Amino acid sequence: MASTDPMQQTLYRAALSAMQNAHAPYSRFKVGAAVLDTQGNIHIGCNVENAAYPEGICAEANAIGAMVSAGESEIKQICIVSSAAKAVPPCGGCRQKIHEFASSDTDILICGKEGVEQHFSIKELLPASFGAENLRDL
Ligand code: THU
Repeated sequence: MASTDPMQQTLYRAALSAMQNAHAPYSRFKVGAAVLDTQGNIHIGCNVENAAYPEGICAEANAIGAMVSAGESEIKQICIVSSAAKAVPPCGGCRQKIHEFASSDTDILICGKEGVEQHFSIKELLPASFGAENLRDL
């Protein structure tokens, strides 16, 4: 059952609209992400592939980059949608990127065809994580 929460629906629609612009001619797997920052602003991103395959960028990375470029640094919610039939969770690299700007309150929303289907905390997606605190421990 998809979420009926208005903000979650707004984020879902924003992620879906970003997904439609994905540049994914190689995998044909389109992904969209929408970040809600702690100031209430929404930032979107889609995956952007490249003929030099490793140069491709994930949707979440682009949405987080847009948030940081706008001067914000904390993710309240991040909503992820893909063109796959089933809801798809973020890849390992994106989990690390989300972790950089997440708090224990950050809500990671995974969407299916109807909207938001699953919620995770960053601790659930990236247990025993590496972060800035480890660098202070020299
Ligand atoms: N992709 C994302 O954009 N986010 C993820 O979390 C998983 C994978 C993209 C990368 C590539 O363009 C395509 O999906 C297939 O892996």
